[in-house]
Amino acid sequence: MLKYPTRISADVNLVPPHSEHARVLFDLIQANLPYLNAWLTWPALMQTPLDVATFLNKAQEHNRDGKALILLLQYQGQICGVISYNEFQANNRSANIGYWLGEAYQGLGIVSTALRRLIQYGFEDLALNKVIIRAGVGNAKSSAIAKRLGFVYEGTARANEFLHQRYIDHQIFSLLKAEWTTQTDREV
Ligand SMILES: CC(C)(COP(=O)(O)OP(=O)(O)OC[C@H]1O[C@@H](n2cnc3c(N)ncnc32)[C@H](O)[C@@H]1OP(=O)(O)O)[C@@H](O)C(=O)NCCC(=O)NCCS
Repeated sequence: MLKYPTRISADVNLVPPHSEHARVLFDLIQANLPYLNAWLTWPALMQTPLDVATFLNKAQEHNRDGKALILLLQYQGQICGVISYNEFQANNRSANIGYWLGEAYQGLGIVSTALRRLIQYGFEDLALNKVIIRAGVGNAKSSAIAKRLGFVYEGTARANEFLHQRYIDHQIFSLLKAEWTTQTDREV
């Protein structure tokens, strides 16, 4: 895989996953558990630093094999969340995007800024044609990211995830390479 961007801005960096981050990521997840549980299933499974180390090792393996691109978000030197291209579909040249932040790191533009750069990397260097964000219906902060970056709302997938004993619907947003190029042209 071509080298992905690491320096996003003076404050924001993308850090490759490594088991040495297990403790700090575990502490971040634990400190934000109810907030993360509102929209994600996996935090409840991260019961020890070893669980997080296993995730980080798997992420490293997926990055190496080109199955995904999972990176830690760092703000002013502190690990503050994760951003990822999940499930690269080579045939379709598409990928799903995921992200989360510690609650205290919201409102700073960290994900939007990093994602803008990762999308550019995806279209220009990974030959992606389509990137997808699936946001739970009601997850206004997540859908705001998609809208802020010019994603198009495709529709709502019903009962698309079993989240803590209930099914939730997902709003599907996507951005095509051609739309991104048009946006970039407009910005110049
Ligand atoms: C979804 C989530 C990452 C959104 O966090 P966020 O801080 O709103 O997103 P960003 O980092 O892109 O920041 C955008 C915010 O920073 C503000 N901002 C400040 N500087 C900015 C900049 N340079 N660029 C863009 N936004 C900026 C925006 O106005 C916005 O704030 P607002 O919501 O008060 O209008 C966060 O709520 C989260 O982790 N939730 C739990 C997990 C989750 O739901 N994950 C998504 C599953 S689909």
